[in-house]
Amino acid sequence: MEHKKRTSFPEDFLWGSASAAYQIEGAWDADGKGPSVWDEYVRIPGTTYKGTNGDVAVDHYHRYKEDVKLMADAGLKAYRFSIAWSRIFPQGKGEVNEAGLKFYDDLIDELLKYNIEPLVTIYHWDIPQALFDEYGGWESREVIQDFTNYAITLFKRYGDRVKYWVSLNEQNIFVGMGYGQALHPPKVSDSKRMYAVNHIANLANASVIKAFHEIVPDGKIGPSFAYTPHYPIDTDPKNVQAADDAEELNSYFWMDVYAYGRYPSAVWKYLEEQNIAPTIEDGDMELLRAGTPDFMGLNYYQSATVAYNPLDGVGMSNEMNTTGKKGTSKETGVPGIYKKVVNPFVKTTNWDWTIDPKGLQIALRRINSRYQLPILITENGLGEFDKLVDGEVNDDYRIDYLSAHATAIRDAISDGVDMLGYCTWSFTDLLSWLNGYQKRYGFVYVDRDVEDDAPMTRIPKKSYYWYKKVIETNGEEL
Ligand code: BG6
Repeated sequence: MEHKKRTSFPEDFLWGSASAAYQIEGAWDADGKGPSVWDEYVRIPGTTYKGTNGDVAVDHYHRYKEDVKLMADAGLKAYRFSIAWSRIFPQGKGEVNEAGLKFYDDLIDELLKYNIEPLVTIYHWDIPQALFDEYGGWESREVIQDFTNYAITLFKRYGDRVKYWVSLNEQNIFVGMGYGQALHPPKVSDSKRMYAVNHIANLANASVIKAFHEIVPDGKIGPSFAYTPHYPIDTDPKNVQAADDAEELNSYFWMDVYAYGRYPSAVWKYLEEQNIAPTIEDGDMELLRAGTPDFMGLNYYQSATVAYNPLDGVGMSNEMNTTGKKGTSKETGVPGIYKKVVNPFVKTTNWDWTIDPKGLQIALRRINSRYQLPILITENGLGEFDKLVDGEVNDDYRIDYLSAHATAIRDAISDGVDMLGYCTWSFTDLLSWLNGYQKRYGFVYVDRDVEDDAPMTRIPKKSYYWYKKVIETNGEEL
């Protein structure tokens, strides 16, 4: 839709930024923290770009006050960060580590000191290695109780001060990359195991949401879903069908479970036909229906365009562009369902991610009409090579990207979508899981690359000052 006059952002709109523990904290074994699966995975040769890891990351663990001060100076209304499960429970369960709890206490208090709303992610991919060693982590139903106990510990400790919570970050990505494409821990490529893990993660998610509503009744919780809206390459009905199928397989298969506690029937039938459907036990569907969210968290980076793909067509690629050499992504698809194709109407980043702000408005509208839930954008941003020249980073391309996406949010608000806030990815530069430190997203440049003994000086980029103005004007000046 186009509007003669755009609706303004709501007065209490949460202009924020986001991060994740493993990508910023460092201090990987400090003060009693146990290893997570990522701490182990990055040590396997060849798994990450140039062997980069989060041992030191951008040293946020020791520099959080400096980082929060920079947030306050930019006028941030909200900051989304994740808690490292193995800082709280080094073994994943059992004895709690008071030093870990205290770190987040201090961080939360520091944010509140500047009136920055803390948005806490309970799980951003770093399951304790101990639980993986003991029972295979997400492959065992035992994780449901351990994850719930961990979350309850957080709700009881921080629920008085933290009112916005994200349960699982991008379940579709950590399950898909971990058990489908073998690019994340535990480096498995097995569809049956992938869907089994996914069902267990759904149950864990619902269990935590249910507990939250009992313990923090005045708070709000939701998952962060990595939603990529799919378009058909043209109006040929078989391509339109391919796009519908891709939506159902890649998106509604997760979001329908979150919002309604049910699996979409066409995908379910497909999984049964392939003999890869997960086992549903007594009480599972009741639990899924009992743990529905207060909002849908949306991580939006790009759209995808697809075409019909015959049964003997192209299959899933387990390779990604992790170097920033444009055009090195491989062809990928699901035989009998869809294959990804180039969209001539959108540009791409050096990592071959499409740049499609209109796709964000489309995503917001689709989620709004299918789920009627408020939406919190929990991530959106541009990963690029930034250059520090004479002490400055002129990242106009990032400003263009974010400005166009914020405009798309305003358009969605004008269309009647209930929006809670916008967290850009990310505040400072940080470790990109598979792409090292060279793929930068932050408003604040961090002076480090592959080597850990770098100065880590924080340098606000041009986009930092742009965002400050956006917040000051509540989005009137984008
Ligand atoms: C999301 C994750 O998938 O995208 C973040 O939640 C991640 O943790 C971000 O960093 C950007 O992805 P990448 O691969 O460019 O770092």
